[in-house]
Amino acid sequence: MRFHILTLFPEAFEGPVRHSMLGRAIQRGLLSVQITDIRSYTTDAHGTADDYQFGGGHGMVLKPEPIFDAVADTLLPYGKGRSTEFPIVLLSPQGRKLDQELVLELAAAPGLVILCGHYAGVDERVRTHLATHDVSIGDYVLTGGELAAMVLVDAVSRFTPGVVGSAENVQEDSITSGLLQHPLYTRPADFRGIGVPEILLSGHHANIERWRREESLRRTLRSRPDLLARAELSADDEKFLAGLGYSVDDGGIESGSNPTA
Ligand code: ADE
Repeated sequence: MRFHILTLFPEAFEGPVRHSMLGRAIQRGLLSVQITDIRSYTTDAHGTADDYQFGGGHGMVLKPEPIFDAVADTLLPYGKGRSTEFPIVLLSPQGRKLDQELVLELAAAPGLVILCGHYAGVDERVRTHLATHDVSIGDYVLTGGELAAMVLVDAVSRFTPGVVGSAENVQEDSITSGLLQHPLYTRPADFRGIGVPEILLSGHHANIERWRREESLRRTLRSRPDLLARAELSADDEKFLAGLGYSVDDGGIESGSNPTA
């Protein structure tokens, strides 16, 4: 996977690109991350990348020319223009909310161009005539798209073979599997008088798997009941959930029950 990040703040990426799992994946040649300074595509002596809003209003707007030029240069080696084959992702709070489904869709591409917005926003023509995807990482406003870009790169990278320990890790992930992850414990078995569930020490694999599944279901019902409606559930799962007061047929919780108990 090749990431091309276009930003006004290239130095923001120095740490994340060099360290952590991502840094190791880059060293091992599994990923590449190219950072382009949008300002280097400005044409005046001051390197002006932003301008006042037409119509008036607070805040400056990122100009379209340097962004269009930077993207054209980035795509040149691939012999591609604007196409969904090589997504051009604009990060902004106005975009489609990022979830694992969108992460998977983007991870299927050979590379991504990622545009980090700043100031009040980006000239709308970047959204309408350049970006193929407009993505928000959540319903809150950041000072710029850089942190959002790091989130996107991290989430997409996990689907590049070899970046995360094993393919099963990614497939069994919380969310990818449709449910939240079950609780995890490691040594010591007794930490300050707080033990771990006996079943995990039993060595009985089938029982452990069932316990994990039920804890995933319990947790998902408690924190993200919306996920249950889309999850693949077995007859045993449905029975377990019914015991917690969740009815699959009704698509929700029966009145008078307490799913978190
Ligand atoms: N830029 C500012 N806020 C953002 C958000 N929530 N998602 C993506 N990019 C952003």
